[in-house]
Amino acid sequence: MFPVFRDRKEKIKIIRRVIFNQKGGVGKTTITCNLAAISAVYGKKTLVVDLDQQCNSTHYLLGRGTNDEEYTIADYFEELLRIKFRRKNFDTYIHKTPFPNLHIIPSHPDLGDLHGKLETRYKMFKLRDSLDSLTQFDYIYIDTPPALNFFTRSALIASDSCLIPFDCDSFSRSALYSLMENVNEIQQDHNSNLEIEGIIVNQFQQRAKFPIKIVSEMIADGLPVIDTYLSSSIKIRESHDKALPMTYMDARHKLTRQFEELYCKLNSSSDKNKNRSKGKSR
Ligand SMILES: Nc1ncnc2c1ncn2[C@@H]1O[C@H](COP(=O)(O)OP(=O)(O)OP(=O)(O)O)[C@@H](O)[C@H]1O
Ligand SMILES: [Mg+2]
Repeated sequence: MFPVFRDRKEKIKIIRRVIFNQKGGVGKTTITCNLAAISAVYGKKTLVVDLDQQCNSTHYLLGRGTNDEEYTIADYFEELLRIKFRRKNFDTYIHKTPFPNLHIIPSHPDLGDLHGKLETRYKMFKLRDSLDSLTQFDYIYIDTPPALNFFTRSALIASDSCLIPFDCDSFSRSALYSLMENVNEIQQDHNSNLEIEGIIVNQFQQRAKFPIKIVSEMIADGLPVIDTYLSSSIKIRESHDKALPMTYMDARHKLTRQFEELYCKLNSSSDKNKNRSKGKSR
């Protein structure tokens, strides 16, 4: 696969990240939307793609009751199943959020009904091709459902990086090994660009012994744990409820600062490259 550049002269690569863990409730949506919001606050044009029929990222960034959104990711996949000479431009599915620089391709509950047909008709590479056609973004974050299915495979095929949220639970820890094998299989068979960028420790309780023990064992085992741990905070519920990512709800909150630190760790080299190329092209 060829990397996507904003334009040939600038050679700025669009970074695509999938946030993936087959286990439910580990923080995929929370991490996707908060990293994307921080990226947008830092002035980067950012897109969130919501591939989960629960539509949690869609509700988090657009507000509740938005299942009547026109042109969702379900419409996009539905159109792929129709025989057409001309398909809608992929930009049609991109919506503005209330937050500057932050856009979303919303999800829809109908997505679940399309799964079987999309799989039998081999549409797994289409999302990658469509994302290849976008040139206006710096970062793309893809939120996925809690399953290894057509949609998560499509997202893994379409991404350069995979971030794995981990909720400090011992069952989740044993599941990490098979999860990483699944990602590696997709990397070997379909997407040689894909790398596991790291495991994100979420809902970390600094004062409890068990999370400290489990995370140190994972590090000792050689797992790629990112050394910014996201604290457990009740504020996250309020942030979801108000449809306000943490950086907008409470910019000085401990968890907001942890998200910022995580964003900076993940992007320091790519942001430098982007800024350097922008400087040159002025
Ligand atoms: N750091 C945190 N502190 C406290 N609560 C959190 C934190 N991160 C996530 N949560 C809570 O955990 C629950 C699950 O989070 P989230 O929806 O982000 O997980 P998910 O992996 O996307 O779930 P699903 O697999 O169902 O899509 C939510 O109720 C959220 O408020
Ligand atoms: Mg989710």
